[in-house]
Amino acid sequence: MGREIAQVMGPGGIPWLDRLERDDQEKPSIVLDALKLRGGETVVDLGAGSGYFTFRIAPRVGRAGKVLAVEIQDEMLQTIRQRAQALKVTNVEAAKGSETDPNLPAKAVDLVLMVDVYHELAYPFEVMTKIREALKPGGRVVFLEYRKEDPDVPIKLVHKMSVEQVKREMKAVGLAHMQTLETLPLQHILVFEKPVAGELLFLQPQGM
Ligand SMILES: C[S@@+](CC[C@H](N)C(=O)[O-])C[C@H]1O[C@@H](n2cnc3c(N)ncnc32)[C@H](O)[C@@H]1O
Repeated sequence: MGREIAQVMGPGGIPWLDRLERDDQEKPSIVLDALKLRGGETVVDLGAGSGYFTFRIAPRVGRAGKVLAVEIQDEMLQTIRQRAQALKVTNVEAAKGSETDPNLPAKAVDLVLMVDVYHELAYPFEVMTKIREALKPGGRVVFLEYRKEDPDVPIKLVHKMSVEQVKREMKAVGLAHMQTLETLPLQHILVFEKPVAGELLFLQPQGM
């Protein structure tokens, strides 16, 4: 849809994902508050990397909820499993996805979080269609992407996304744009929802 897809960050990027300055640069507590979790939810951290957000979400969903950390790279999954064991966290599950399918259960997910991931999905339409199927009606997808509109954000252009581009691509998948938050120093927070009557609306021919 008119953009170049970025290369996947390999396990060599783990030290960067876990850098100490990240909390200060990216303010994860603002993101966690924006997710408005009450406890008990099933949250998917898609493209979880080494689990930077996974282990911050886990206490928010509590024992009654769970975080499914989905990755295509075994080294990332291994890191997450080791961390869960070391931290004695029992509501995190690491699960393998493919480039086209995150292998999620149907209509079982409350929220999918994708932090700095969407721009590097090799098959964005296929993955997002599967995510839509996995969401409960009213379930949300939250994207964090570096602001393409802002030349002062010190990230390569191919690793950034504009609000218009994400909205255009989600419209094609049948996810409704709910909110764009500009409360972070470098990234957009984009919130989309699976419409309650999502299946029907999406299948309706144009003009009806
Ligand atoms: C830049 S890292 C971000 C990691 C993490 N979200 C964070 O903010 O620390 C992007 C991650 O997305 C993963 N990824 C890329 N395509 C994926 C896909 N189709 N399904 C699941 N994970 C994917 C990569 O393996 C990589 O670990």
